[in-house]
Amino acid sequence: MNGFLYITNQMLKVLVTGGAGFIGSHTCYELAKNGYEVYAIDSLVNGYSESIERINTLGNYQKGFKKIKFFKLNLCDYSLLNDFFQSIYFNKIEFDGVIHFAGLKAVAESVLDPISYWENNVISTINLLKIVQSYKVRSFVFSSSATVYDSRFDPPFSENAELNPVNPYGETKLAIEKILNQLSYASDKNINIASLRYFNPIGAHESSLIGEFPKGTINNIFPILCKVANGELNEFHVYGNDWDTRDGTCIRDYIHVMDLAIAHRKTLEHLDISQNVNLTLNLGTGKGTSVIELINAFEKANSLKIKYIFKGRRAGDAAEIYADATLAKKVLGWAAHRDLNQMCVDGWNWKIKNPNGY
Ligand SMILES: NC(=O)c1ccc[n+]([C@@H]2O[C@H](COP(=O)([O-])OP(=O)(O)OC[C@H]3O[C@@H](n4cnc5c(N)ncnc54)[C@H](O)[C@@H]3O)[C@@H](O)[C@H]2O)c1
Repeated sequence: MNGFLYITNQMLKVLVTGGAGFIGSHTCYELAKNGYEVYAIDSLVNGYSESIERINTLGNYQKGFKKIKFFKLNLCDYSLLNDFFQSIYFNKIEFDGVIHFAGLKAVAESVLDPISYWENNVISTINLLKIVQSYKVRSFVFSSSATVYDSRFDPPFSENAELNPVNPYGETKLAIEKILNQLSYASDKNINIASLRYFNPIGAHESSLIGEFPKGTINNIFPILCKVANGELNEFHVYGNDWDTRDGTCIRDYIHVMDLAIAHRKTLEHLDISQNVNLTLNLGTGKGTSVIELINAFEKANSLKIKYIFKGRRAGDAAEIYADATLAKKVLGWAAHRDLNQMCVDGWNWKIKNPNGY
């Protein structure tokens, strides 16, 4: 940490973009539960306003919880975003920080439709940064991804590992990180920045009120596993059993979404007492789990069987990706605590209690 220590004696006001999405909704809850005043915006292209309603219902019974305010808004519309900030600041509300989750995230879709990914992810971020600069918001947290790393190298991936995204989605994340770096270098820009590179978030809040429910084609492994478990899909496809790993299947770093949410709160706390910082941090457990190990853990945690078959390798996949998570621990005093069993229990409970999502 550089610079001065700011003493914060009032609760922070935070704008969360993509707040009605999977990770955004869990983070909104974590912030509101800790007394932050949360303003969530989302275009709802992939999110659900019901997630915010459910969080507010859950929070009703919790001391210190601040009800989240939700606004439907597409960040690509600069004029609407500007109007939103004007109306908020007109009411004497000033944001202390912004967490920017909003974005499209499906790797395969980004290969088929790169323009939509560049347009949505990058234009929205540029619009947001222009506004954040003009309203002098001090802290900016960005959802980056482990897809920025060059996966041909061996794990663990530390923050200074080689970068080489292999799909348009990952390229947009790296491009945004570069924009943020340039903004941070620009001498008169008094803004604290954190780019958080997530590994593989799964699971759900323990209440089972919020969780992951993707719209359209499902790409993420955990929702697919849940669909096989409840009979919506006949079998789970394991892509490749001939990778150079301990059981031949791909290894990833799964992290409980609530651990991720806590890391965002801690990042905001850190930025709030910092001056001119530009952080890049991995958010993972530092532990690799193979696809077969994930299936076994899911079966054991929930006392059920998953039917799976092996398929060929997918283009662009990598054998083994997991984080070196030591820097986040050093800087934020944060580490992921929930284990794979907990991720499987919470994620499955969300699914069985909400088979059709929100
Ligand atoms: N889930 C993962 O595996 C993962 C891994 C690494 C990084 N990330 C990143 O984390 C962020 C959140 O991911 P998630 O899993 O919660 O995804 P999500 O799709 O559930 O949430 C993203 C939210 O952003 C909203 N959104 C998209 N474009 C918008 C726009 N132009 N204006 C306003 N809202 C918009 C969507 O409606 C959605 O609610 C994304 O930026 C994603 O790229 C996710």
